[in-house]
Amino acid sequence: MTSIDTDETGLGPGWVRACPTSDIDIDTAFIVDVKPPVAVYHIEDGFYATDDTCSHAESSLADGYIEEGWVECELHYAKFNIKTGAVMAPPANRPIGTYPVQIVDDIVYVDLSEHRGCAIAALRP
Ligand code: FES
Repeated sequence: MTSIDTDETGLGPGWVRACPTSDIDIDTAFIVDVKPPVAVYHIEDGFYATDDTCSHAESSLADGYIEEGWVECELHYAKFNIKTGAVMAPPANRPIGTYPVQIVDDIVYVDLSEHRGCAIAALRP
C-alpha cells in the first residue's frame, strides 16, 4: 500500500492507492494490503471497495466468486452486494463495510476514512 500525495491527486489524507485499473479485470477483485484488508472490485459499471473479510468468518471475499454486482464467499457461500455490503444469501447475517472509490489517472484509490457499516469499522484506527 502506498499513501498518496494529496497535492498531486486532490484527494484527502484518508485516501490510499490501491492499484492501476488495468490490474483488475471485470468480475475480479484486488486486495489492498491494509489492516483489516480491503477488497477492490471491478464490476460492470465501475470500481467498488468493501471489507475483504467475510462477516461470517475469516475468509477473503476477493478470493470469492463475483457476478452481476455480488460476491460469493468461497468458504460457506454467503453472498454480499458489492455496492452496499448487504447480505444477499446466508450463512452470513451481518453486512460488510464499504468504502468510497475514485479513479485518478487510471489508478484506483480508496478512502479508508469513510468506512460505511459493519463491525469491522471498530478495528480501523
Ligand atoms: S466465511 Fe464467508 S460464508 Fe462463511
